[in-house]
Amino acid sequence: MQGRTVAVIGGTGQQGRGIAQRLAHAGTAVVVGSRDPARAAATVAAWPAAIARVRSASYRDAIVASDVVILTVPFGTLDDLLAQHRLDFNRDTLVIDVTVPITFGGGTAMLAPVADGSAAEHVRARLPDHVRVAAAFKTLPAHVLNDVGRPLDCDEFVCGDSPESREGARSIVEMLAALRAVDVGPLSRARAIEQLTLLAIAINRRHKVHEARFRVVGL
Ligand SMILES: NC(=O)c1ccc[n+]([C@@H]2O[C@H](COP(=O)([O-])OP(=O)(O)OC[C@H]3O[C@@H](n4cnc5c(N)ncnc54)[C@H](OP(=O)(O)O)[C@@H]3O)[C@@H](O)[C@H]2O)c1
Repeated sequence: MQGRTVAVIGGTGQQGRGIAQRLAHAGTAVVVGSRDPARAAATVAAWPAAIARVRSASYRDAIVASDVVILTVPFGTLDDLLAQHRLDFNRDTLVIDVTVPITFGGGTAMLAPVADGSAAEHVRARLPDHVRVAAAFKTLPAHVLNDVGRPLDCDEFVCGDSPESREGARSIVEMLAALRAVDVGPLSRARAIEQLTLLAIAINRRHKVHEARFRVVGL
């Protein structure tokens, strides 16, 4: 994946900004896709000067310019985004879905039911066949991702609609310092991964921390 351009759609947000900065630190050309590219440019300009490889653009321009498109927007905004931009994705673009259909009704974190099975499968169903889809970065807390100089020191689960998708997502995940990708198979495994996000939130709340994440042993 070295030499490729990666779009982080919603990269001004909690989860996207740590991913964007860490990929840029690893030497990747990054485009932050935003509904408001001027506002995003101001956000990116405040990031450390070392991150010269990050630029900002509209969602469309970021998608068109990129080989890999990472979706870090609220789940509820996906339908409009994908309906509007589904034809902007290049052939063989790898889409990495980070979204989790979480709701916080009544102060309790829950997963909203998704007819397709998971957020990642929801994305798959709304993109053309020539686009590849994987899921990753779903169980990493933004709190840790955004401490950009700090090694992540954990594992991240990767699943995808083909071996090529999983390999592409694995190579992106492992650009982040001290992060190991664990390939868990087909895209439907996102159902379990999204449950793990919920579990991480529950662990954080119960133990009054912000950094719970996962490590697989025996692998
Ligand atoms: N935060 C976490 O710890 C975490 C962990 C795992 C997974 N995730 C998942 O990652 C995704 C992003 O989470 P986040 O915490 O980064 O969300 P966020 O900060 O609220 O939003 C991320 C970005 O999405 C864009 N966006 C597009 N439509 C929006 C709308 N209607 N309202 C608000 N923002 C909108 C915004 O960028 P522009 O305005 O520049 O377009 C915003 O900066 C979610 O699906 C979440 O489930 C988050």
